[in-house]
Amino acid sequence: MYKQAYYDEDFLINYKTGNDYYLDDACDDYPDYIKRDKLKLPDVRSVDVSRHFTRLSEMNYSVDLGMYPLGSCTMKYNPKYSDYIASMEDFNKHPLENEENIQGNLEIMYNLQEYLKTISGMDYSSLQPSAGAHGEFAGILIIRKYFEMKNELGKRNEIIIPDSAHGTNPASASMGGFTVIEIPSNSDGLVDINALKATVSEHTAAFMITNPNTLGIFDDNIKEISEIIHKNGSLLYYDGANLNAILGITTPGKMGFDIVHFNLHKTFATPHGGGGPGSGPVAVKSFLKEFLPVPIVTEDNNKYKLFYNLKNSIGKISSYYGSFLILLRAYSYIMKNGNNLRKNTERAVLNANYMSNGLSEYYKIPYKKLKKHEFVLSTENTGKKALDISKFILDYGIHSPTTYFPLIVKEAMMVEPTESVTKKDIDYYINVMVKALKADNETLKKSPVNTSITRIDELKAARDLILKW
Ligand SMILES: Cc1ncc(COP(=O)(O)O)c(C=O)c1O
Repeated sequence: MYKQAYYDEDFLINYKTGNDYYLDDACDDYPDYIKRDKLKLPDVRSVDVSRHFTRLSEMNYSVDLGMYPLGSCTMKYNPKYSDYIASMEDFNKHPLENEENIQGNLEIMYNLQEYLKTISGMDYSSLQPSAGAHGEFAGILIIRKYFEMKNELGKRNEIIIPDSAHGTNPASASMGGFTVIEIPSNSDGLVDINALKATVSEHTAAFMITNPNTLGIFDDNIKEISEIIHKNGSLLYYDGANLNAILGITTPGKMGFDIVHFNLHKTFATPHGGGGPGSGPVAVKSFLKEFLPVPIVTEDNNKYKLFYNLKNSIGKISSYYGSFLILLRAYSYIMKNGNNLRKNTERAVLNANYMSNGLSEYYKIPYKKLKKHEFVLSTENTGKKALDISKFILDYGIHSPTTYFPLIVKEAMMVEPTESVTKKDIDYYINVMVKALKADNETLKKSPVNTSITRIDELKAARDLILKW
C-alpha cells in the first residue's frame, strides 16, 4: 500500500536512488483494473498551460478584473497583501494542532475579537459563524436562548422585520423557529414608527434591521426605535451588512443594538466565500455573553486559549474555530488601514453620492433622503426593464448592479461602488448606464453578446436545476 511504502525505509532509499519503487511495488496491492500501463499526459509547453488557465480565469468576472458595484453585497477589491499573508506557511496550521503551537494564530483571533468589539461598540464577540447569514442565524439562536433562560420563549415567538430587509433576515428568523412579522417602510424609506408601535407586543422577541438600510438611507429614528423595543423587553438586532457606511463614525452599540453580525467579506475586504467558508462573526452586549457560540479566544498573562466553557452557549456552529484564513485577511486589512477605516467609509459614501448624482438626470432615484454608501435606482417610467440594462452593461466590462432588490422599489437596481473605485471608474459606469438607457429595446433584449455566456433563460435556470456533485 502507498502508506506503507511511504514509511518503508527501502522506499526512501529507492526513491533517493531513483528506482521506480513507488509505481512498481507500492501499487502491487491495487486491483489490475484500476492500474494503467501508461500515463497519457498531454504534451504541451508550460506557456500554453499558463495561457490556457489565464484565459479560463477571464471567462468569469471577478474583483480582480474590474469594479463590482453590487448593492448590499459590498464587493470591494480584495487586497493582495491579505492573500499573501494568508498564504504564509506559519499561519496554515492543522486545526487539531496543540494550542501551545498556535499561540500566534490565537493571538490574532483574540485581537480581531477585540477590534470587532471596538468597531461595533459591543462588549463580546465570537468569530465562529462562516458567513453573514450564518452570523444572523447565530444571533437568532442567541435571542432564542436568552428568552428560553427567562422562561419566555413560548410567549416571545415573533421577530419584526421591515419590508426593506435583506431576504436572509426573515429566513434566519424563521429557521430559528420564530414567526416573522413584516412592517412597511414610510414614504422616506425608513421604519414606519407608527407601524412598529402597533406591531410590538408581548410576543415580540426582537426587531431586526440594518442601518443604513438596503436603500442606503440611515434611519435617524434609531434611538426612538431602540427605546420602543427595549421598553417592551425585546432585543434589537443589527444586520451588519451595511457597516461599511458607518465605520469609525458611529457604532451599532451607540445606536442601542444588543446583537450584531459582521460580514467580514463586505466590510473588511475578504473573499465572500459564497455563504461560507467566508466569515460572519457575531458580537453582543455583556448581558448576552454567556450565549455566544464557542469557542471564543481568551487571554491570560499573554497565553491565548480556545474557551469552550460559556455557561449557556448556543454551542458550536462551525467546525474547529471558524474560517481562520478569512479572519486573518480581515485582521491584516484592519491593521493595514488603522484610522483610515473611517476614511474608507467617507470615500465609499462620497463615491455613492457622486454616482447617484450623475445618474439622477436619467434614472428615477426613489426616496429623497441623503444616501450613504449605496443607492437604488429604478427604470420605472423609462420604458426599459432593469434586467435588460443589467445585461447590456456586461458587454462593457461592468458587473451588473443588484437587480430587482430591494423588493419595495419597482424595476430596482441597487448600486454600491465602494471606496475601491476611482472617479474614472465611476464616470465610465455612468456613461455606460446612460448608453444602456439610450439603446433600442431589440439590442437590450439580446444583450450581452460579448461575454463567454450570453443571455441565459433565467426562468429555466431557476426552475429546471441540474444538480451535480
Ligand atoms: C443586508 C444584508 N444582510 C445579510 C446578508 C447576508 O450576508 P452573506 O452573504 O454574508 O451571507 C446580505 C448579503 O448580501 C445583505 O446584503
